[in-house]
Amino acid sequence: MTDTLWTDALSAAELPTDDVMGLLVNGRDIAIYTVGSEVYATDNVCTHGQARLCDGFLEGHEIECPLHQGKFDVRTGRPTCDPVTEPVRSYPVKIEGQRVYLQLD
Ligand code: FES
Repeated sequence: MTDTLWTDALSAAELPTDDVMGLLVNGRDIAIYTVGSEVYATDNVCTHGQARLCDGFLEGHEIECPLHQGKFDVRTGRPTCDPVTEPVRSYPVKIEGQRVYLQLD
């Protein structure tokens, strides 16, 4: 189901456990993170180069880029470690029933 605000992205059963996964949502490359019971979403491509964050390493609320080890806070997309300086776009997430929805725009 897609409404004007929220886009149905995946089943909650497909979420990783304290990890990151990549998926296409409406043609966008999105990274989905779980930290405990919390779920976050950002663009999947690093702002420093052509690396996919889903191939990186999630530790707490930080995702480490696999290419040059820059880091972002998955809650906000804010860069937390060089060489990344530009934030990665983050998206609001909600879970209703067994579905995970993203607010893409
Ligand atoms: Fe991500 Fe360089 S491509 S830190």
